[in-house]
Amino acid sequence: MSETGSLFGWLIAIGLFLTLLNYPVKVIYRTKIAPLPRESKMKTAYGHIQRFIVTYHRFFALFTTLMLTAHIIIQLVYRWLSWTGLAAAILMVVNGFLGGYGHFIKKKKRSAWFYIHRTVASLLIIAIVVHLVTNGR
Ligand code: HEM
Ligand code: HEM
Repeated sequence: MSETGSLFGWLIAIGLFLTLLNYPVKVIYRTKIAPLPRESKMKTAYGHIQRFIVTYHRFFALFTTLMLTAHIIIQLVYRWLSWTGLAAAILMVVNGFLGGYGHFIKKKKRSAWFYIHRTVASLLIIAIVVHLVTNGR
């Protein structure tokens, strides 16, 4: 069963990767793509990719949360309650609510929520790395 448990763990990682792409995709746009001329094919193509990543951000996050739920159930039933995993899960759920708040209530307008959302995402990455290097202890 540990195989299936790890599978969901890795599906969380993939979902999270897609969720987090939001950030580097925008940084690359600002630094490398924005200066290109309007007619640039690269700029048009990149624009499509960026729109896809940004539009589906919340659905990537939702997918990640569903995989997290499966991972938690399997690990609780067949393994143990992982404290490092729990810390990561709490950070992820909190960030989901923060994102929802920014998206639906603040209508994506940047204010404190945005910087907290970003900071919690960084803490989440650290928590997951700890969870992985301690083998889910
Ligand atoms: C964002 C949250 C989480 C992520 C990304 C994540 C990811 C992973 C991954 C990829 C593994 C496999 C490691 C390996 O095969 O070496 C794993 C193992 C494990 N996870 Fe999580 N996990 C998360 C949250 C949790 C939570 C909340 C629990 C609490 C029940 C948990 C319990 C475990 C356990 C017990 C293992 C070890 C399984 C074993 O060695 O048989 N994880 N996790
Ligand atoms: C696992 C949960 C989540 C993580 C780890 C996460 C992480 C991030 C990151 C890293 C950024 C980029 C910040 C930047 O551009 O500097 C971001 C932006 C954003 N997130 Fe999330 N997010 C999560 C869930 C959500 C959810 C569920 C929603 C909405 C319902 C959401 C809405 C937003 C919005 C509106 C932005 C900024 C504007 C935009 O790119 O559209 N996030 N998030």
